[in-house]
Amino acid sequence: MINFANPVDEYLENKKDIDHAIIKTLESNDYILGKSVNRFEKDFSKYNKCKYSIGVSSGTEAIIICLKSLGVKMGDEVITTSHTAYATVAAITEIGAKPILIDIQKNYFNMNYDEISKILTKKTKCLILVHLYGIVANVKKIRDICKKNNIFLLEDCAQAHGAEFNGKKVGTFGDFGTFSFYPTKNLSTFGDAGAITTNNKKLYQKAKLYREYGWKKKNIGILKSINRRMDEIHAAILRIKLKHLEDNNKKRRKIAKIYTDGIKNKNIILPNTLPDTINVFHLYVIIIKKNLRNKLIKYLQKNKINPGIHYILANHQQIPFKNAKKTKLSNTKKIIPNILSLPIYPSLSLSSVNKIIKLINNFN
Ligand SMILES: Cc1ncc(COP(=O)(O)O)c(C=O)c1O
Repeated sequence: MINFANPVDEYLENKKDIDHAIIKTLESNDYILGKSVNRFEKDFSKYNKCKYSIGVSSGTEAIIICLKSLGVKMGDEVITTSHTAYATVAAITEIGAKPILIDIQKNYFNMNYDEISKILTKKTKCLILVHLYGIVANVKKIRDICKKNNIFLLEDCAQAHGAEFNGKKVGTFGDFGTFSFYPTKNLSTFGDAGAITTNNKKLYQKAKLYREYGWKKKNIGILKSINRRMDEIHAAILRIKLKHLEDNNKKRRKIAKIYTDGIKNKNIILPNTLPDTINVFHLYVIIIKKNLRNKLIKYLQKNKINPGIHYILANHQQIPFKNAKKTKLSNTKKIIPNILSLPIYPSLSLSSVNKIIKLINNFN
C-alpha cells in the first residue's frame, strides 16, 4: 500500500546518525532544554535567517505561547481561515480567545485577504496566517493589512518548513512564526515537538517565559504559565533531519511537478501556487468535481494507493467551534467534500508517482 505519507523512511535513511544521536542523548544525563535544544535553536535560526528560535513541545503549544506573548486574552478576537488544521483554531480557543473564521481563495487553499477588513472589530488582536499544504500564502499583502490595522501577524508554518516568499523564509514576515515537528511534517521528529521564530527580542524573551512556567530563572516565577518544553531527544533528531530538509523539499517539489505535468483529467483541479514563491508541498491536494471523491478513493485503494483527506471538516463545522463568528465561507464549503491528498513524501518512487498519474488519468 502506498500511503499519503511515510515517516519511517526518513528514519531508515538516516538510521545510523539518528540511533547514534539518541544513544548519546540517553547517556548525556541532560534530557530537557539542554545542549541539543540550544544547538537546534541556533541551527533553526540560521536556516530561517531570523534572530531567534525557541524549541517547544508541539506546534499547537507554539501558537498558544505566541498568542499569550502578544497579550491576546480571553474575549479577544483572532482571525484565521476555517480551512486549516483543527490545531490552529484549538490554540485560539484554548486561551479563551475567539476565533474569527474567514474564507480561502477560489481554487487556492490560502486566506482570502479581501475579507480581513470586513471582519475587523475593536477586539481583533491578531491574525494567524496558515501556509496550508506547504503552499505559500500572500504573506506580504496580509502583513500590510495587519500593519495598517494595527493587529499582530502570526504565521502558522506547521506545513511549510523552508518555504519562501520573494527569497525570504516563511515564519519571518510577521511578529512570530510557528512550526510543528509532528512525525509526518516536512521537518519532523518521532514524537511531538514544535518551534517558534521571531526577530523581536522582547517577544522572544516573553515567549521563553511562557515556555517554562513563567520562570525568569530556575524556580523563580514572574508570570503564570505551565511547561511547554522541547525534549533533548527530539532536538538531537531534528538537528540531523534539518540538514536534509532542503533536499527533501526539493524531492517533494519534483514529485509535485510530475503530478502537475502528468495529471490530465477534466474532473480534477490541480493545486495553484503564487509567483515568486518556493513551495514545499507538505501535501499535494487535488479537487475532484461532480461528487466523485468517494469513487476515486475506492478506485485508488483497490489499486493499493491510500490517499488522505485534509480535512474531512472545515473548522466552522466542528462542534466546539460551531458558534465562531465567520464569513460566508463559500469557497471553503465548496472544496471540503471534494479535496483529496495524493501520496507525497521524499522517498516516494518515480514509478509509484507514474502509477498514480496513470490511474487518475484513466479514472472517470
Ligand atoms: C497547520 C497546522 N497548525 C498547527 C498544527 C499543530 O501542530 P502539532 O500537531 O505539533 O501540535 C498542525 C499539525 O497538525 C498543522 O498542520
